[in-house]
Amino acid sequence: MKVLGLETSCDETGLAIFDSEQVGEDNKGLVGQVLYSQVELHANYGGVVPELASRDHIRKLVPLLNELLAQCDVSKDEIDAIAYTKGPGLIGALMTGALFGRSLAYGLDIPAIGIHHMEGHLLAPLMGANPPAFPFVSLLVSGGHTLLIAARGIGEYEILGESIDDAAGECFDKAAKMLNLPYPGGPNIAKLAETGNPNAYELPRPMLHRGLDFSFSGMKTAVHNLIKDTPHSGSGSDGDPQVRADIAASFQQAMVDTLVKKCVKALKQTGMSRLVIAGGVSANTHLRETLETELAKIQATVHCAPPALCTDNGAMIAYAGFERLQAGQADDLAVSCVPRWPMTELPAV
Ligand code: KG4
Ligand code: ZN
Repeated sequence: MKVLGLETSCDETGLAIFDSEQVGEDNKGLVGQVLYSQVELHANYGGVVPELASRDHIRKLVPLLNELLAQCDVSKDEIDAIAYTKGPGLIGALMTGALFGRSLAYGLDIPAIGIHHMEGHLLAPLMGANPPAFPFVSLLVSGGHTLLIAARGIGEYEILGESIDDAAGECFDKAAKMLNLPYPGGPNIAKLAETGNPNAYELPRPMLHRGLDFSFSGMKTAVHNLIKDTPHSGSGSDGDPQVRADIAASFQQAMVDTLVKKCVKALKQTGMSRLVIAGGVSANTHLRETLETELAKIQATVHCAPPALCTDNGAMIAYAGFERLQAGQADDLAVSCVPRWPMTELPAV
């Protein structure tokens, strides 16, 4: 089954084709993907402007689809089904992909299905080289979500913990902004941290002894105060690259320590031995390496998608769509997008 996946929930237009008949040792079914990032479009505004995002998705969907079909050497008639992101996300942005996908499927007389964006992230590691079997604990860390989930099957999700304020990615983005680094902050903090000392400054590891929920607002304030109180931390001519790298590394270390400790706790609490990490922040190399070291100590394994499939993309939507479609699920002709959508409301497969 060839599934076209469409992701337009925020500021990336992602399209991909997943082919279940191409699943092999080296090829996990991903025929090809195209991704257009609107980062530059929103750069001057300090965040994503929803209306600009929607308009740009509309402009890009058709040319990107043509580019994808040419790249994969697949014609429209060979597509068997279409999966689009139905939520959560920016309502206008979601509507562009959903209406485009639903109409195209109607025109081609093939089924269509709306996919939960975070389920796309959660299942993306199953397309990887080392796919984990259910059940597993999943750490979903993106720009809008920080969730620890016990996943017992597709659509069988129990929320173990979540952020009571900012999401992990949002915290990376805000810390980056305070250091005058461009959006998205995560990769830029990670790059600056490479030459820094992670123990240079003491930052809080919030809520470590309080269950499996997270809170990052205190850490954000601590970074703000650290930058304010530390000479030469600015990006101007007075700034010292080593001081800035030390701040970035100390911040990243505090984030990684907090996330890793909660993951270990969740594994112990559930008795599970596999951890899946997904979402943009799971592309962070330091997080991946620390998890591998710490989980090895408790005989648990960590599984993640290749970095390109950690951030928003169409492939994860195509794959999640395939899993649900092959179980007989599909949406009718009505298009309804859901800006807020708890994962626990998803039907099991
Ligand atoms: O999943 P994603 O692409 O979009 C959302 O659904 O939100 O996640 C984006 C988030 C941003 O906050 C970005 O700064 C963060 O993921 N991110 C990273 C890295 N790459 C992306 N954070 C830390 N380290 C990275 N290497
Ligand atoms: Zn995402």
